[in-house]
Amino acid sequence: MARVPQVIVVDPDRESSAEIQKMLSMLGFAVIASAGYGVEAFTLAFQLRPDVVLMRIEEPLVRPVQTLSRLNDGMPDLPIVVFSTEANIRLMRQSMVSGASDYLQEPLDPSELESSIIRVLEKKEREGMRRRGELDDPIPQGTIVTVFGAKGGIGKTTISSNLSVALAMEAHQTVALVDMDTRFGDVAITMDIPVERSIADLARNLDNVDRVTLKDYLVQHDSGVRILPAPTRPSDWRNLSARHIRDVVDVLAQTHDFVVLDTPGTFNEIVAAAIEVGTMILLVTTLDMASIKDTVLALEMLHERFGNDEERIKVVLNRAGVDTGVREQDVARTLDSPLWWRIPHDNEVVKAAQLGRPIVQSRPNSKAASEIKEIARALAGVRNRQKTQKKGGGLGWLRPLFRKSA
Ligand SMILES: Nc1ncnc2c1ncn2[C@@H]1O[C@H](COP(=O)(O)OP(=O)(O)O)[C@@H](O)[C@H]1O
Ligand SMILES: [Mg+2]
Repeated sequence: MARVPQVIVVDPDRESSAEIQKMLSMLGFAVIASAGYGVEAFTLAFQLRPDVVLMRIEEPLVRPVQTLSRLNDGMPDLPIVVFSTEANIRLMRQSMVSGASDYLQEPLDPSELESSIIRVLEKKEREGMRRRGELDDPIPQGTIVTVFGAKGGIGKTTISSNLSVALAMEAHQTVALVDMDTRFGDVAITMDIPVERSIADLARNLDNVDRVTLKDYLVQHDSGVRILPAPTRPSDWRNLSARHIRDVVDVLAQTHDFVVLDTPGTFNEIVAAAIEVGTMILLVTTLDMASIKDTVLALEMLHERFGNDEERIKVVLNRAGVDTGVREQDVARTLDSPLWWRIPHDNEVVKAAQLGRPIVQSRPNSKAASEIKEIARALAGVRNRQKTQKKGGGLGWLRPLFRKSA
């Protein structure tokens, strides 16, 4: 988007329209016209050909919906972002059916407005490029979950292995688990699998690997998870760059629903690349002061890189419930970030680790395993039927069909 995007505001309330125009100008957009509903909106949009229309929608819906449909019929490529004081499903649905690209609720938040407009413009641009053949066909892309934490010994490997198993067994997803711990690389021990080839071998031969031969590099675990182990000699990491990591993860994401990356408690080029490629970053912390202090720094770094993106960055409190003198609500306050999930301290985890068997398999009903299974279901967008039925009864389990993916 080289030039300043041009916007038309459609809002019959002149006062609120003026406010919104001011906000748009401050955000750096050019407001080229404002209009009420009906012919005025349509004529201006048709003559001026804006990049995007921002339009109010309120009850009664007849006029706004008619205007929206007319605009959409006449100019199907024109993105229309609607906003409303209401947030009810009926209104949202009507807007979507009539051609809205996004739906915002008032009072409008400037940064939300800005990202909404940019998002719809980028989408339009991509559609144009695809039509003109300037973009390749879309490639399937799995969700990449980077399990990260600022310290060792806080449960990253426990979470990444058990989450992988739960995604495969509970949520029936195809899963690749990659050991990117450049220091200890203990996924193979945790999962009790033999290591013949590692991520270093795959990276070296990537040019000659296709979907079929890719399987030769992955160790099939009995849970269904396919594991790409760390090299047995840590010095082998030296030959790997961020580029290798990106390429390896790319190939895996094209062939699996989920790619889970386990990382070390240190920071280096490999970890940076693992974070960079993550669709989702699970930042693991525990209740002790050292871990919390390091997590504050890690969060700062993540926010600097990605902004305060709560969809992407999720804080997971592990070993919750142990008495360290630190309270959970204080952790959230210190981090200035909500705790997305808490996994309790559970002695069964330690026992399972000694047996080389993920707790989700060996003690599926233990407290820690139950939480990790819930995380897997949340990530995969599947509900626990039993739970939902108990709570909501009847048709509760249908709801995930209407939910946006996590
Ligand atoms: N929720 C938990 N309850 C009890 N012990 C845990 C829990 N999570 C991890 N552990 C134990 O803590 C130790 C470190 O876990 P690990 O996953 O190897 O951490 P990291 O990968 O961050 O270094 C292991 O002995 C593991 O069994
Ligand atoms: Mg580890």
